[in-house]
Amino acid sequence: VDDVRTWVSSYAPRISRISPSEIRERMKLVGDRAMIQLGVGLPDPSVVPYELLREASAAIFGDREQAAASMQYGPSEGYGPLREWLVEYMRSLGVECSTHNIMIVSGSQQAFDFLGKLFIAAGDTVMVQTPSFIGALRAFDSYEPRYLMLPDDSGAWESLDKARAKFCYTSPDFRNPTGTCMSVGDRHKLLALARRSGMLVIEDACYEKLRYDGATIPSVLALDIGASGDIERGRVCYTNTFSKTISPSLRVGWVVAPSELIQKLTLIKQASDLASSTFNQMLALHVASTYLLSPMQAMKRTYTERRDAMLDALRKHMPDSVTWTEPAGGLYVWLQLPPSMDGAEFALRALRDHSVSIISGQSFFPVAPDRATARLSFSLATPDEIGVGVARLAQLVRQMISPA
Ligand SMILES: Cc1ncc(COP(=O)(O)O)c(C=O)c1O
Repeated sequence: VDDVRTWVSSYAPRISRISPSEIRERMKLVGDRAMIQLGVGLPDPSVVPYELLREASAAIFGDREQAAASMQYGPSEGYGPLREWLVEYMRSLGVECSTHNIMIVSGSQQAFDFLGKLFIAAGDTVMVQTPSFIGALRAFDSYEPRYLMLPDDSGAWESLDKARAKFCYTSPDFRNPTGTCMSVGDRHKLLALARRSGMLVIEDACYEKLRYDGATIPSVLALDIGASGDIERGRVCYTNTFSKTISPSLRVGWVVAPSELIQKLTLIKQASDLASSTFNQMLALHVASTYLLSPMQAMKRTYTERRDAMLDALRKHMPDSVTWTEPAGGLYVWLQLPPSMDGAEFALRALRDHSVSIISGQSFFPVAPDRATARLSFSLATPDEIGVGVARLAQLVRQMISPA
């Protein structure tokens, strides 16, 4: 009898690098009311600007021309008026560019896939901060790179000059998963390293707008343009998204880069999905133009309260052998557990025995995982739930470090 499943052995080798994500698994539990959600970094439904979205769709469908355009294919580089608006928005962030430097993507995740496709041949070296956003690592994985770690201590960067990395992926503002920021001095040093070693810098600015305390730090892109005088002579590819500020369901993100790079990425987009949803880009434009230039106070108030509740609860309940980051923005706190603890077992037992969903830290490392780590998110749970959840986690740490 023929084995009809012989095609299973025909998968391309690159697919063996792709494994299921713990975050996607935790996502399935988001509707479960018995579970305290400290795992996924989804925007809280209470901060989504529903009224503005309703007004925006009424305005689009109330105008014949706009309605017709909204239901059509659009240009691969993105909806013109949104790109024009983004030129002004980027100017407000200190970045001088034109529409030739801007492309719309179906979420910044799509940009990471396209950049992997454009730059990585199997075995090429790419540099990443570790730990790093799992989604970007998964996107790069399918192009079979070798990973080189960009250590947090910039004093060690000099030795990376000859690394011949194709690019360095960095998330300088409130990095997922650590919540930490790269200092302005280190941003300059990273650009200097990129210049010396001839690589591109991919700057993932996903959480740029979600700063709760302290002064804004200029983007790596803005610093690069400041040094070269012109984005066309730069070496930064900047990505951003409306996912955390409006809604991830729009799947609208954008890339800002020298026009040569935008043209290549546009060709890849044509071959991939032709164009992002025109309707969603129109919605994003309507909402962003009334909302994104405002201080987004309601959203920031909600997340600041939750961040503070998490830090207070950690201080109150955790044993001294656990340390954590104190983020000034973003959605995450990173736990460093006692070295004897395994973060994967911690996350599993938290879920199974204590109804608290968290993410173990190891999958955020492309190489040399630190197993005694975990990521907590404060975006979805209320301050009271956060207090209860952290108390339960602290109880579990005590059980795991000194089992009865
Ligand atoms: C650092 C980082 N970059 C990018 C993304 C993905 O964003 P998008 O929804 O635009 O694909 C996320 C989502 O969690 C993220 O944490």
